[in-house]
Amino acid sequence: DWTMGAYRQEMIEDIRAQVGDKKVICALSGGVDSSVTGILLHEAIGDQLTCVFVDHGLLRKDEAKEVVAMFRDNYNLNLIHADESDLFLGELEGVSDPETKRKIIGKLFIDVFQKYADQIEGAEFLAQGTLYPDVIESVSFSGGPSVTIKSHHNVGGLPEKMGLKLVEPLRGLFKDEVRVLGRELGLPASFIGRHPFPGPGLAIRCPGEITRDKLDILREADAVYIDQIRKHGLYDEIWQAFAAILPMRTVGVMGDGRTYDYAVGLRAVTSVDGMTADYYPFSHEFLGETMTRIINEVKGVNRVFYDVTSKPPGTIELE
Ligand code: XMP
Repeated sequence: DWTMGAYRQEMIEDIRAQVGDKKVICALSGGVDSSVTGILLHEAIGDQLTCVFVDHGLLRKDEAKEVVAMFRDNYNLNLIHADESDLFLGELEGVSDPETKRKIIGKLFIDVFQKYADQIEGAEFLAQGTLYPDVIESVSFSGGPSVTIKSHHNVGGLPEKMGLKLVEPLRGLFKDEVRVLGRELGLPASFIGRHPFPGPGLAIRCPGEITRDKLDILREADAVYIDQIRKHGLYDEIWQAFAAILPMRTVGVMGDGRTYDYAVGLRAVTSVDGMTADYYPFSHEFLGETMTRIINEVKGVNRVFYDVTSKPPGTIELE
């Protein structure tokens, strides 16, 4: 008779057996998988665990604050908030090629994580929120021909480089089971139900050059858009929704003045696994109201597009 409660105990005993009295580090992204991994590890080994939350300056509005507060308030675990936004945004300055952006972010992430890990004396293990589908995917694709659409950003390759052994307590679980486990571990429901957010963050929602000004506009527009979706009770029907800032400015009119401001693109898709997706059929009323709110509330935006591209031929993210 399988229950999550019993499985949780089993995972905790496995972690203790694997780790012994050694130290473990865990990269927290604020996503469900890494959060559940961190909390489970904390329950198993307490102070032997240190979590590192790398803030690359490409997070959504208030995200770093919320994630850090959630962990500090609810769980008494060792947490390093690594604010490295100057480093990341500095290296990304003037870069507009999507793959170059991803590679820069991926490399810096490893450098930064390594820097913080080096400060934790005697760390021998790295905890990762690898799920069962990730395990299957890497097996079935190995050796076969593959086409890289986008280089994926995660901590893959990190453990070998750092000479760390892996702890992957979620290897036997599917995403929905991780959510059940997260609820068992006391993660707030709002946290568990959050839409996926990519490792490279807002960088891939800002096609072309990334500037702090554009990121600020993007954060505000995204916050209004998500607020609209929540207010209309649509959040849980949607796999993923976000705003993007388009690499162009257009002419508009506001009051009796001419404007020349950025255009924002809104994306919302339904999907089962992110591999294919359909655009979400918002009502015209919803879209009109959201356009009005974004243009009124976000300085620097005078035009709003809704993306009706499915995947394929589009991808979910813009880059
Ligand atoms: P695409 O844009 O490829 O995205 O259709 C499919 C899903 O994957 C997410 N995504 C990423 N997640 N690191 C991640 O952790 C990445 O580099 C990355 N790129 C895309 C995307 O948000 C969507 O859910």
